[in-house]
Parts: sequence; C-alpha cells; structure tokens
Amino acid sequence: MSKRYTITAALPYTNGPIHIGHLAGVYVPADIYSRYLRLRGNDVAFICGSDEHGVPITIKAKKEGVSPQDIVDKYHTIIKKSFEDFGITFDNYSRTSAKIHHDTASDFFKTLYAKNEFVEEVSEQLYDAEANQFLADRFVTGTCPKCGNEDAYGDQCENCGSSLNATDLINPKSAITGNVPTVKETKHWFLPLNKHEAFLKEWILKGHKKDWKPNVYGQVKSWIDDGLRPRAVTRDLDWGIPVPVDGGEGKVLYVWFDAPIGYISATKEWAAREGKNWEDYWKDDNTTLVHFIGKDNIVFHCIIFPSMLKAEGSYILPENVPANEFLNLEGNKLSTSKNWAVWLPDYLKDFPDQQDVLRYALTANAPETKDNDFTWKDFQARNNNELVAIFGNFINRVAVLTNKYYDGVVPSPSAYKTIDEETLTTLKAYPSVISSSIERYRFREASQELMNLARLGNKYLADEEPWKTVKTDEDRTKTVMFIALQIASALAVLSEPFLPFTSSKLKTILCHSELDSESTWEGVSTKSILLPAGHSIQKGKPDLLFLKIEDSEIEKQLHKLAANKKANEAAKKQVEPQKDEITFDDFTKLDLRVGTIIEAEKMPKTKKLLVLKVDTGIDTRTIVSGIAGSFTPEEVVGKRVMVLVNLAPRKLRGVESKGMILMTEDELGHLIFVNPDNDQISNGLKIS
Ligand code: 2FM
Ligand code: ZN
Repeated sequence: MSKRYTITAALPYTNGPIHIGHLAGVYVPADIYSRYLRLRGNDVAFICGSDEHGVPITIKAKKEGVSPQDIVDKYHTIIKKSFEDFGITFDNYSRTSAKIHHDTASDFFKTLYAKNEFVEEVSEQLYDAEANQFLADRFVTGTCPKCGNEDAYGDQCENCGSSLNATDLINPKSAITGNVPTVKETKHWFLPLNKHEAFLKEWILKGHKKDWKPNVYGQVKSWIDDGLRPRAVTRDLDWGIPVPVDGGEGKVLYVWFDAPIGYISATKEWAAREGKNWEDYWKDDNTTLVHFIGKDNIVFHCIIFPSMLKAEGSYILPENVPANEFLNLEGNKLSTSKNWAVWLPDYLKDFPDQQDVLRYALTANAPETKDNDFTWKDFQARNNNELVAIFGNFINRVAVLTNKYYDGVVPSPSAYKTIDEETLTTLKAYPSVISSSIERYRFREASQELMNLARLGNKYLADEEPWKTVKTDEDRTKTVMFIALQIASALAVLSEPFLPFTSSKLKTILCHSELDSESTWEGVSTKSILLPAGHSIQKGKPDLLFLKIEDSEIEKQLHKLAANKKANEAAKKQVEPQKDEITFDDFTKLDLRVGTIIEAEKMPKTKKLLVLKVDTGIDTRTIVSGIAGSFTPEEVVGKRVMVLVNLAPRKLRGVESKGMILMTEDELGHLIFVNPDNDQISNGLKIS
C-alpha cells in the first residue's frame, strides 16, 4: 500500500565541498532509501539543503577575508551541482539563508516563546576580550569533561558525541585569538530539555525505538540516563537568524535550533512549487518521518529537535534516525581542514560517468555499524572484481549472445528443466530479500544481495553453457538465453536505487521503454518474466556498463592525497617539534638491535595488537605490537626489524611484552617498519 514519507538528509555546512565521508554516512543511503520508496509507489518528499549559519562559516569567511554570504553562495552552488551530477535525487535542495527559512525558523521560535517553552536567563558565558566576541560553539575549544578529548568544541565533542555547553569545557581556549577566555554576563533563551525528559523516556526508551540502530539507541539512552539540562538556543553572534523577540537585538538563533527547521522550510518551498500541502508531510500521523544523519548529529536529531517539535505541538516525530558511523580515508580520519578527503567535485572530474562506482564502493563498505576505511585499492577492487567482472560481464554476455544468436530478439523458451525452475524461483525471491535489507536500513547487505543476483546470472550461464549448446540443441539454448535475459531485466529494475546510471543504461540496452507492461519491483517478484519472447533489445555491440580501473588511475589518486597532505603539513608546519635534549649517556642506555619476526598472531579480542615472536640475536622473545590495524600476521612474518630490547617489560592483555619494534609512518600515514634491508646485517647487531 502506498504511504507518505518525509525523508531528510542532514543539511551540509556550506564551508567546503561534499566529500566521501558525507556521501557514505548520509547522502548515498538516504538516496537509495528514497529511490527505493518511490519505486515501490510511495509518496516521497526527499529533503535537504545547505546549512548556511553557524560558526564554521564565519571562521572560513574570516580566514579567506570575505563575507559569510560570499562563502555560503560559493559552496551552496558547488554542493548543489555536485549532488545533482552524482545522481542524488532530492525533491528539494534548499538553503537556510532563504527567506522562507528565516520566516519559518523565526515563527517557530516565536511560537515556543509564546507558549512559554523557553527559560530566559542571564548567565556568565565565555568571552574573548581581544576579539570582542562571546565564545560559543566552534569559537572555543577545550578538553571534553566526558572523554578527555582535548579538541572538543563549545557545543559538542566530536570524539564521544557529547553535547556540551561552552562553559563545560576544561581549559577553554579561544579559536579566534588563542587566548584563555574570560567570562561576561549575557542573556539567552534556553530550551529546558530537562522538562522534556519524561516525554523522551516514554517516546524513545519505552516506545518502540528499540528497533533503532544500536549505535543510535545506545547513545540516546545514555544521554537520557545521565539527565538532561537546559540548552541555550540563542547566541551572541551577527551571522544567523535574528532572535525575533524583545531583548533579542544583536543576537541570533543557535545554528542547531534553525538548521533542523530547515527540513520544514525546504518542504514548504517544494510543496508550494509542486502544488502540494506541506503540512501533509509534517503534521499527518500517517506520514513516516526518517532523518538520515552522521553519528555526530545524533543528539540534535534524537533529543533536541524532537523536544522542539513536541514543544511546538503540531508536528510528527521521526520514526527512525538511521545514523551511520564515520568513514576514514586510507586509515586516517577524514578532515576538511586538513584536506584529507576525496572531494565529490574532484571525483566527478577524475572519473566522469562513473558515479555508480563510487556509490557502490561506498555502499558495499558503508560504515553502518562501525567506522570503516575507504581505500583506493578497495574502490578499484569493488569496480574490477565485482561491477566489471560479475555484473558487467553477465550483462555483456547476455546482450552479445542475444544479438549474435537471435539478432537481438528475445527467443521463445521450451520446457523448463529443474535448474531453470530453480533459477526463476530464486530470481523471484530477490525483490523481497533486497527490500527487507533496505527497510531495515542495511544498505550494505542489500547491495551485496544485488550483486548475488548478478552472480546467479553468471553461474547460470557458466553451468548451462549456451555457447556450447548452440551447436547441438537450439531449443535448449533459447530457453537458457530467455532465462538469462529475465535475470538481466530484473537487475535493471532492482539496481535502480543503488546504481541509477547503470540501471538506466541497462534499461536502454534491454529496451525496457518499449515493453507493454511496466517493469517494476513487484513485477520481478510476481511474474519474474519481464521480457516477453519476441521483444527486441538494442541491436549491435552493447555499451559496457563498467570500465576496468587501471592501477595508474589509483596511483594518481594516492599521489594526490599524499600531495595534499604534504601541502597541508607544510602550510601548518606540522612536523613534530624536537623533543628535549638528551645526553650521550642517555642515548647509550637505549639497546637497539636488529631482529627478525619469526611468528605472529592476532591478540584475541583486540583490533590493534599482534603478538610477535622476535629473534633478537640475544634470544627469541615475545613483543606485543599495536600494528594489527595495518598488517596481518602473515605479512609481518620474516620482516627484518629494529628492536628496542631493553625497554622494561610490560603486560598487555595478560601477555608480557619485552621490547618495542621501531615503526614510522609514510606520507599517507600508513605504518611502515624501520627495517634494515641489508642482508649483511645479522640479528643481534647493536645500533650505535
Ligand atoms: O553536521 C553538519 O554538517 C550539520 N550542518 C548538519 C545539520 S543537520 C540539520 F539539522 F539540519
Ligand atoms: Zn568527549
């Protein structure tokens, strides 16, 4: 039955382009979900837009010597275009500087104000006298009181996800001048989250939210269990939406108050354009609201925004908030400021017409339950070994053989053998298998099921060998090709949410638009026969769906990353400062030897540790080394290494480690051994 859905994707800050972390965490899964819902005949509003307020924008503008408006105009255009070129099918991509948003957010604030939902309070806030600026949010950094991260921001710690008030930070420091802040009194409006605790407990903890992803539910539960406190929703800044009540002069709404309201204003803008009623998408209990976000946004979407909506009183609440974990890049945290990222506009330039490859690589390796790593090698392998070798190869064989044997006309099958019946039965089950994964927000699993369908096609052809039977059994060949064409056709339909460009190319190859009955998701499961005998597919050599990616292309990307990193380090002079001087006597205390790793195994229940047996020339000893994130045991056995042998033994997870292997990092941040490649250096030799 058709249902109405409002699907939101976190509004990206307009202080830089979109990178693969944003795509994997939010936009690709949200787009798969929205495309899927539309394919199933639902009424979907897929909403996003640029988040144009907040301190990151002001900081970027200051750094570049331009106005915040210049920054948001520039990046809004870049972001919007790259989403379009990448095939993200927002029904509306708006921006929070739009008048409709300023009006909607202002009205929302005024409604809560009129309902007495705020607490107005004069309190002491952090202040930078030199910059003449109150220090909230990203204008101040300090140590997180919850996890000890020294780089927490004034509103949030990105390490543990805690939402903070600037005054909570230990050792705060102004991000503008580096000064230690003073405090100054100022008036603000606070949303008393404590007042909503009972509702949140009922809605999330006692409600049916246990089916939320464990990472989301767990975080929310622990915040609620810790007790909630009032949270300021206004700021002493000049960039943002003016506080629309008496006494609010010179103050603006906190960016996290206005940004989620951006989902509502973007829906209003879209509805006005499309002649729809926006309230159907936000105020009707039959509408399902789903927020796609990254894990650093959980508190805002599961606690603060629902409390705002509840306080306002006329809105629905989210059914689910499927937040993803983070994606790393080549072993290091993605970072806009460190230029450690694969930027979407760059990808689109370097890999033209290969949007689906990135969509697939990011989905197949999506950080759904834990942080994951994007590597260019994995990207290449996903393309060459799966998209080209399995999916593309199957389609190419089917299209080429149909043209070769039947001049592009779907042949009539004869009586089915058991293998044919079984293959069609398996084929019919795929729509519900894939649906079930998508509906549980398991896009990774869903993408693998899609690839399994292509595998089914390949195996069927390999087992039935139409290229052999064509010489001996015409009827059998026709049946096999008929069934292979049905699998190809199902792939064209079911791949649409994941690989939209490929799906469209494949539909062109199979001439889907000329079919009498529509080829639909339901059609695959009910009929399984989408291409009737006699239907013509495209004549001639089919276009290849995927092209092999050569090593040279991957190396180019790796060099680019390394160059970015170097440039960034040079700009920031990030070479580690020299440590305090030591005497020659201090140095001679270090007993450094050459050794060879002769055995290695993973330390059970850890991700980072390998337990090594090292021949030091003195003895064979156990050394526990934190290198399992970079090397498998097999890779390190036989390695020549430098060992600090007289380091005091210490126990790690109950295993006594006697010494330390010397390591360094290459320009990409990968661990490498400091190793004597010279075979003339035998184990046990001292380094002096
Ligand atoms: O973390 C971010 O990039 C924020 N700009 C997300 C905002 S989501 C929302 F609520 F609009
Ligand atoms: Zn923290």
